[in-house]
Amino acid sequence: MIRPLMLSAALLLAAAPAFAADARRDAILADYAKADSGHTGFSASRGESLFRTQWKGGDERTPSCTACHTDNPRQNGRNAKTGRPIDPVAVSVNSKRFTDVDLVEKQFTRDCKSVLGRECTPREKGDYITFMMGQ
Ligand code: HEC
Repeated sequence: MIRPLMLSAALLLAAAPAFAADARRDAILADYAKADSGHTGFSASRGESLFRTQWKGGDERTPSCTACHTDNPRQNGRNAKTGRPIDPVAVSVNSKRFTDVDLVEKQFTRDCKSVLGRECTPREKGDYITFMMGQ
């Protein structure tokens, strides 16, 4: 009696997408693609470099995205400026990530200035979200 149930649960899990799809996130990505001149697709590996690179272009307390979001996007972060906890940024752990366009834009502006000392480009933003969708 138990076995068929377990089998269907396993099938359900296997059928689940690698990340939680969300039409709002798709729309945000589509906007960045449109704004990216000569767009040839976003890259998770470029997004990972953006996330891990020690840019040291902005605030000295935040040389990289990992300074607050940690090396592991699936873990809780901690704001290096205020000490406040930050929820994980990986979509697999937090399916609400990158679904509110105003919040996404506000944080990209703030965080890219803090880390790179400039705004991120539409391509960098799309790459970053693409990386986090696979995490
Ligand atoms: C000073 C600490 C800090 C650094 C450094 C930082 N972030 Fe953040 N980030 C935050 C906080 C705080 C939030 C908002 C709280 C939350 O979303 O849980 C956030 C949220 C975000 C969001 C919104 C996520 C969503 O839910 O839609 C994006 C996008 C983002 N960060 C990108 C970046 C990128 C890209 C970098 C590196 C260039 C970076 N962050 C570096 C603190 C930081």
